[in-house]
Amino acid sequence: MMQTHQSLKSYNTFGLDIYANEYISIRDEETITDLAPIEKPFLILGGGSNILFTKDFDGLLLHNHIKGIEIVKEDVSCVHVRVGGGENWHQFVLWCLKKNLGGIENLALIPGTVGAAPIQNIGAYGVELKDVFNKLEAIDLQTGTKKSFSKEQCQFGYRYSIFKGEMKGRFFISHVYLTLQKKHTLHLSYGSIKETMNQLKLEQTIQGVADAVMSIRRQKLPDPEKIGNAGSFFKNPVISVDQFNKIKDSYDSVPHYPAGDDIKIPAAWLIDQLGWKGHRRYDAGVHTRQALVLVNHGTANGAELFQLAKDIQSDVSSAFNIKLEMEVNIV
Ligand code: FAD
Ligand code: EPU
Repeated sequence: MMQTHQSLKSYNTFGLDIYANEYISIRDEETITDLAPIEKPFLILGGGSNILFTKDFDGLLLHNHIKGIEIVKEDVSCVHVRVGGGENWHQFVLWCLKKNLGGIENLALIPGTVGAAPIQNIGAYGVELKDVFNKLEAIDLQTGTKKSFSKEQCQFGYRYSIFKGEMKGRFFISHVYLTLQKKHTLHLSYGSIKETMNQLKLEQTIQGVADAVMSIRRQKLPDPEKIGNAGSFFKNPVISVDQFNKIKDSYDSVPHYPAGDDIKIPAAWLIDQLGWKGHRRYDAGVHTRQALVLVNHGTANGAELFQLAKDIQSDVSSAFNIKLEMEVNIV
């Protein structure tokens, strides 16, 4: 049932006090197919953990609550599942751990829904959604028809898919098909996973890896329940070796990682170098422990957070000649 003037305060992890003009909770595919073609401004919302509302939303908000986890096929080594887009991602990770299915343990504790996970190909601690992704089902909001997208068709990249590119805003992702492993390959090479497992005396199992990832994340990232945020606000930039060498001339210890023929450097480091960490402008700020995370200390509005993001972007651009790209979706 359609509602009007719906508060979205508890539906966005920045905790912004904003409203949608019209709002509908989507619990099945039929509701979406019946609505299409939608001829007014609309927006799909999952857990609201990667979105910044700069003002009230003057249109129809489609809130994804399509549930269900179904095993569609099982063979000697794998289990293939079909998951409703409105399922909570972390709860799904816990479901896999309980069934001893491997593949997404490094992605524990990422907020949001399963349906949004392909949008930016969520990633953490050396694993990305694409590593376990098989296909997805989506509804074309222009025609109401259902379409299946294979892994190739999704064009996954670093924090990218076709749904952030040419198909932006056109499809409602209703179900995601993932393939999980009965025999596990542990991904331990990223960051401090191994050290954390040793320190906490965790077993070399998928549960052990998930526990280590959760422990690291709880230390590093602010909990949106306590302080509003949307995780990393910017993507880590990928720059040429030439450009990297210029930065290295002035900053010998610049952290960096290989990215094909180019080099990825942490945006957090760039922002940190310029003294933004812990910066606060009324209630809009930069987190004190992670310079890549913008926070709402209480009563900030979206426009203030967006202005802060733009100021950081232009500072990084003048100092390092690097254009930071926003990861968070701005509405
Ligand atoms: P929303 O914020 O609701 O939506 C995000 C975008 O996807 C919007 O443009 C929306 O219109 C669109 N969308 C949502 N659902 C659908 C759908 N069903 N069909 C079509 N379009 C849709 N991300 C990472 O990759 N790695 C991390 O480690 C990580 N850590 C985070 C930590 C914290 C504390 C927070 C707050 C966020 C973090 N994020 C991370 C970002 C976020 O969790 C992911 O991007 C997540 O996938 C967003 O899911 P959501 O349901 O909240 O999406
Ligand atoms: N650093 C600083 N200052 C800081 C924080 C970090 O200089 O305040 C430097 C350090 O050198 C550190 C490096 O930046 O080693 C990387 O920091 P961190 O390990 O915290 O990772 P990140 O690059 O900031 C990325 C993802 C996260 C993901 C983690 C773990 C992006 C944009 N962010 O963060 O994803 O959880 O790695 O894999 O790729 C998200 O997308 O919302 C998100 C949280």
